[in-house]
Amino acid sequence: MCSTKILGCRASSSVVVEKLHLSSALRRLILLSYTSSWFSLFLHNCVLVCRNRQTDELSGTDIVSMTPWLAPVVWEGTFDSILIDSIFKQQNITIATTVFALGKYTRFLKDFLESAEEHYFVGFRVHYYLFTDQPGEVPEVKMGENHHLTVRSVPSMDRWQDISMGRMEILEKLIKNELASEADYIFCLDVDTKFYGRWGVESLGRLVGVIHPWFFDYPRDQFTYERRPESQAFIPAGEGDYYYTAAAFGGSLADVHHLTKTCREQLNIDAANSIEAIWHEESHLNKYFLYNKPNKLLSPEYLWRDISISAAQVKIIRFSHVAKNNEEVRPNF
Ligand code: UDP
Ligand code: GAL
Ligand code: MN
Repeated sequence: MCSTKILGCRASSSVVVEKLHLSSALRRLILLSYTSSWFSLFLHNCVLVCRNRQTDELSGTDIVSMTPWLAPVVWEGTFDSILIDSIFKQQNITIATTVFALGKYTRFLKDFLESAEEHYFVGFRVHYYLFTDQPGEVPEVKMGENHHLTVRSVPSMDRWQDISMGRMEILEKLIKNELASEADYIFCLDVDTKFYGRWGVESLGRLVGVIHPWFFDYPRDQFTYERRPESQAFIPAGEGDYYYTAAAFGGSLADVHHLTKTCREQLNIDAANSIEAIWHEESHLNKYFLYNKPNKLLSPEYLWRDISISAAQVKIIRFSHVAKNNEEVRPNF
């Protein structure tokens, strides 16, 4: 039996992936499969059988590429970028992308936007919604084809925790009031970040969570979930699947609307009870994902700690937090 401590998952066996090489015949078959759901399921299983091997023991550098509820975990080597791009090119999708830059965090915008334009959904329609209290500080960044940026003013706030948590309500309203006819998917990203590699359509799904870069190889009992029963974000010992970051999440408009609305409601209940969850909206997001399982997970390649730190499992860093001096950039410490 596999080690159940890996990634805190409850799998009785884990699927370990090796580099996937699809022949052109197989590619054609997969394209064909999009016309038949039965055939698609059959083919999907064939591909899995081809590319996965069951192991009794996971070694230190193996990766888990499937959750116990059969959601894929996206790592380098688990998808064919040319194939998946060609499939999604047939649909005219738009990916709304939200980012907040209040106070001194406007300094992160240039690198964030410039690097996104190099790596983020290149060749697909992207609409960034940038929320800031200083629209005059937004740098001029040339947008690629079919990429657009809309700047929205929001009021300043005195506590970084309130800025971070307040995103849920703004996102909830944006999706409900404006995005229905504008976009198909949405990703909500931290701004103190930079792209270094491809982030593309392989990341799309109904509800998508990103595994937190510090906890992907930790046992569940060390996850920093909210442990006080008084908080709506409470997760009891022994519960939970993964520890997800709040610095990146996404999915369909309907699913992310439900997520942001639920987190906003739970945050409000906590505030009324004078309690703030240990990691703010991230604690509520983790509670949400426990009861509303994401149907796709992104590996820590999609939100790494800092470009200068490496780990054997992470072959490519696509998106990473940048080093920042919290004391200097935050309005309170
Ligand atoms: N944020 C902001 N101004 C602030 C504090 C936070 O714009 O003064 C936004 C910004 O988008 C940031 C996010 O809230 O990326 C989350 O805060 P932070 O990155 O400080 O949290 P951490 O990732 O360090 O836990
Ligand atoms: C930190 C991160 C926080 C929070 C925390 C969870 O590394 O900066 O935002 O995610 O981990 O333990
Ligand atoms: Mn951050």
